[in-house]
Amino acid sequence: MSSTAPIGVFDSGLGGISVARQIARDLPAEHVLYFGDSANAPYGIKTPEQVKSLSFAIVERFVDQGAKAVVIACNTATSAAVNDLREHYDIPIIGMEPALKVACDRGDVPSDPHHIPQRVIVAATPLTLRERKFAKLMERFDSDNEIYKEPCPDLVEIVESGQLGNHQLVMDTLHRYFDQYDLNRIDSVVLGCTHFVFYRDYFRELLPERAAIIDGNEGTVRHLRVVLESLGKLAPEGATGSVELSNSDPSERIATLSHELLNR
Ligand code: DGL
Repeated sequence: MSSTAPIGVFDSGLGGISVARQIARDLPAEHVLYFGDSANAPYGIKTPEQVKSLSFAIVERFVDQGAKAVVIACNTATSAAVNDLREHYDIPIIGMEPALKVACDRGDVPSDPHHIPQRVIVAATPLTLRERKFAKLMERFDSDNEIYKEPCPDLVEIVESGQLGNHQLVMDTLHRYFDQYDLNRIDSVVLGCTHFVFYRDYFRELLPERAAIIDGNEGTVRHLRVVLESLGKLAPEGATGSVELSNSDPSERIATLSHELLNR
């Protein structure tokens, strides 16, 4: 497969467009085929088996389209399917997980030999937070830090229904999930679902200034670059890339919303 072949990027719906946007910024020579599965969203309240079977169907489609790599721009689909997908396909499959390591590493200050315990809220889908993959990730960090898991399924629905611009609705929803915490004690919030990346400004409004807002998009694209480079598959420098958006929901509403999010 040549280095000019496209990269398949998918999510349960519109959230992964935040990752496609990051690829367009950081790897502008690449061609991205984006597939949002909005007809089947949300994935976060399905069973792992359902999400696995939907993920396989999408990757199969990318393979038919000649993709040189696949990015699972969805923490939920990664937890349910990444291992099986990697076993089954021989193109690189890049997954995503909540950037808990980045949040906890903020407690390692070079001038201080001791780790400063971090208080971290991980906002993600119910499935991501329930799956074994996240439990293993948490095991690595929770003895030295305070980690709180907060499932926020309504934040997925708000993006999918095109209500991200409804300030009142979004802030009410965030307060409903986060008012139970003393936010002045929180060091960071991890956006462990690609839909939530679009809420960064709203989280900024909710959180005190000292609290960091962390997502995994930049890290994922960095990892994608390293993988493609190691295989000699990075698109030639100076080439003009593109992002082609498609969706299992063929409505005009979803097409318009997808373009708006990509250019946001
Ligand atoms: N955007 C997805 C994620 O990163 C999942 C959203 C959903 O369908 O529940 O986990």
